[in-house]
Amino acid sequence: MAKNKISKNWINKQKRDLYVRKSKKEGYRSRAVYKIQEIDEKYRILKNGISLIDLGSAPGSWSQYAAKKIKNGKILSIDTQDVDKIKNTFQIKGDFTDINNQKKIKNYFPNKVDVVLSDMAANTTGNKYLDSTSTGELCISAIKFSKEILNSKGIFVSKIFMGASFHDIINEAKKTFNEVRIYKPEASRKESKENFIICKNLL
Ligand SMILES: C[S@@+](CC[C@H](N)C(=O)[O-])C[C@H]1O[C@@H](n2cnc3c(N)ncnc32)[C@H](O)[C@@H]1O
Repeated sequence: MAKNKISKNWINKQKRDLYVRKSKKEGYRSRAVYKIQEIDEKYRILKNGISLIDLGSAPGSWSQYAAKKIKNGKILSIDTQDVDKIKNTFQIKGDFTDINNQKKIKNYFPNKVDVVLSDMAANTTGNKYLDSTSTGELCISAIKFSKEILNSKGIFVSKIFMGASFHDIINEAKKTFNEVRIYKPEASRKESKENFIICKNLL
């Protein structure tokens, strides 16, 4: 399909999309907020007083949601892209896989943290196999980082794509956490291979 036909289709789809309209009305920067809201309502993750890291935060709707829900907590977000200021959130611009940025994150928290969220997705190349594998690698890096930074009852939530790297992700998650669940929120587009992994309690 021609490139401008694809983008016209995308714009029309966005206009029809209930979650896009809802997010505009409610002041969220992306429809993605309804994915974390559903996950949170099902698994009861965000609570007052907790510390939370949001990996791959741009344009910022997950952090907006976290900042609204968590009173007296500590929130840090990171993305390679610019993100407009979000209240009560310490924001870093940079690559999460860069060891110096991981050090910055660790230095920000005096203690181990309660929750790590990752909605990171690699830049799309048009090659679905490659895209899902690159996003899978980001998820595996996030699991390894979570092992170092989460407290023993900590929770890890991440976007994954049902694809080539699925079994590697599950293996890494099961090596790291007691409980591993997969969930696809209603707000995740039906035609997308996107799912979320929810892990609890470090082994
Ligand atoms: C689907 S978007 C996140 C949407 C976000 N949860 C929200 O609600 O606004 C995925 C993000 O992951 C970011 N990303 C991808 N690789 C990254 C990396 N290595 N480090 C930090 N951010 C990354 C991208 O820049 C992109 O903004």
